Amino acid sequence: MKILVLGSGGREHALCWKISASPLVTKLWCMPGNAGIASDAECVPIDISDHPAVIAFCKANQVDFVVVGPDAAVAAGVVDDLDAAGFKAFGPTKSAGRLESSKSFTKQLCRDHNIPTAAYAHFADAEAAKAYIREKGAPIVVKADGLAAGKGVVVAMTLDEALSAVDMMFGGAFGDSGAEVVIEEFMTGEEASFFALCDGEHALPLATAQDHKRAYDGDTGPNTGGMGAYSPASIMTDALCRRVMDEMIYPTLRAMKAMGAPYKGVLYAGIMLTEQGPKLVEYNARFGDPECQVLMLRMMSDVVPALLACADGQLKNLSLRWYDDAAITVIMATNGYPGDYGKGSRIDGLEEAKKVEGVEIFHAGTKLQDGHITAYGGRVLNVSALGKTVSEARDRAYAAIDKINWPEGFYRRDIAGREVRRERGE
Ligand code: AMP
Ligand code: GLY
Repeated sequence: MKILVLGSGGREHALCWKISASPLVTKLWCMPGNAGIASDAECVPIDISDHPAVIAFCKANQVDFVVVGPDAAVAAGVVDDLDAAGFKAFGPTKSAGRLESSKSFTKQLCRDHNIPTAAYAHFADAEAAKAYIREKGAPIVVKADGLAAGKGVVVAMTLDEALSAVDMMFGGAFGDSGAEVVIEEFMTGEEASFFALCDGEHALPLATAQDHKRAYDGDTGPNTGGMGAYSPASIMTDALCRRVMDEMIYPTLRAMKAMGAPYKGVLYAGIMLTEQGPKLVEYNARFGDPECQVLMLRMMSDVVPALLACADGQLKNLSLRWYDDAAITVIMATNGYPGDYGKGSRIDGLEEAKKVEGVEIFHAGTKLQDGHITAYGGRVLNVSALGKTVSEARDRAYAAIDKINWPEGFYRRDIAGREVRRERGE
């Protein structure tokens, strides 16, 4: 089977790494890919937002199956266009992808189907939004309605912060995404990332995971796409996972099917574990990055039949096996991320780092330049490891990082710290 993966991040590297291990695969491409992905797949320098070019490549190379990585590709309708051209793809249609691309769509769906989430109101007008904020008081959460690269959310601890967030969003800070805002009740609790494969009707939960959204140690600094992740996450007990499936995932699948937009692909629920039980923070219509990296490391089964079953509506009879080992990934990012950062700095020591037991290094923003791995993105490397415990996996990942020489990069030193303390019974 010939497979094409779309995307170029650490998530896509982990997917390519896992897919390339499948005995079903005879050829694997990644479009556009990156310098690390090139060891697991043939990289194809085509812009994935150019759907006619993607389809022409699939035709010319008789691609059997396309795996869509990033949210932007889902929102642009690449799955719809591939389907219209006769190509099978893993991922939701544009219409089903509204679960991520429109926060107001998802909030409405939650309201209509009693899915537990923060109370909210939706505004297309700044003054009305501000009046509502004054009425509710702080803390309160202001969100741009559309996709904003994970940066369209302001958790405002004061009234002033909330009011200026409204001005910023209506002032065009996120382009069209900010033309409408959702204002939400502030929820408190620990967050977890929940993933379920979906085939339009059935869902199969994946292993549990948590990520670290803030840039710096101690969960300080600005929000990022994610600075590290680990799996399993002991806080997500079997009972909680069942509640998430019953109270969120299945009602959502039924609702999407009923409105003629069946959801196929991976559904990623951001969960807040509040005192009243699990509540939905948001849905994403794709794998989490970096959560995908730890899930692929822990998955024992072949991933290809599972991805195909989503597209074919055949999940019902599928089960997945997982290694008992724990996995961690630590992101190395370019100084300045998630703000402005430089490009073109050289990274050394990767070969030595890879030799540490249990370690796998996934690449995000890298290019091969004059024979050297060079940083070309915000998040650049995902130093990942398996171990018998989260503590062992963490020690291995940080031992590998110690061998990497990249003065222009930074990383958090406390990834999975909370889980390590839990393991020690602290
Ligand atoms: P989102 O992009 O919707 O996942 O939001 C980004 C982050 O903002 C989440 O991971 C939470 O940490 C935080 N957040 C979002 N909504 C709320 C809320 N209603 N209450 C508290 N924190 C929130
Ligand atoms: N790790 C968070 C995300 O993928 O959105």
